[in-house]
Amino acid sequence: MTRISKVHECLEDDHAELDVLVANTFDAIEAADARKAFEDLDYFWARLGMHIRAEHLRLFPAVRKAAAGSAEHDGISKMLEQLREDHDFFMTELARAIKAMRLVFSFGNEAETLTIVRGLLEGVVERLKVHNQIEEEQIYTLTGEAFLDAGAAEELLASVRMELARYPNRFLDRAPA
Ligand SMILES: [Fe+2]
Ligand SMILES: [Fe+2]
Repeated sequence: MTRISKVHECLEDDHAELDVLVANTFDAIEAADARKAFEDLDYFWARLGMHIRAEHLRLFPAVRKAAAGSAEHDGISKMLEQLREDHDFFMTELARAIKAMRLVFSFGNEAETLTIVRGLLEGVVERLKVHNQIEEEQIYTLTGEAFLDAGAAEELLASVRMELARYPNRFLDRAPA
C-alpha cells in the first residue's frame, strides 16, 4: 500500500471507501437480506461518523484558521456551516434507518422496512454526492502548500489519520492492522 502523504488524498480515499460501503448496503437490501443489510448499514454509519468526526475536529478548524484574515474567509465559513448541516442530516437519517432496521428483528415487516430504509439511504447518498464534491473541490484543496505551511499540513494529516483509525469498539476487528 502506498503511504498517503496528503490530507486531501487521505479524505478522498475515505470518500471512495464509504461509497463502497454504502453500495454493499444497497446490495444487501436488493437481496432482501435484512441481517446483512443491518450489519452493512451499521458499519457504513460508523465509518461515516468517523469521517465526519475527522472533518469536524481536525479539518474544518484548520481550514478556518488558515482562511482567517483572507478575503475568502466569509465564503469559506458559510461553506463549512453548510457542510456541517449536511453532516447532521446524514447522521440523523442514518440513525432513523438503523432504528427502523432494529425493529425488524423484533416485529418483522421486513420487506416494508427495507423499502423505507432504501428510501432513507437514497436521500443520504444523493446529498452526500454533492457534499463530497464540494469538499473535494473547494475545501480539501485548502490543505495544500499554498494555504498551510509544511508543519501545519503534517500535523493536520497526522490528526486526521488518528481520527480515521479510531474505530468504535464493536468494529475494532475491522480496523486496519
Ligand atoms: Fe463532510
Ligand atoms: Fe468528507
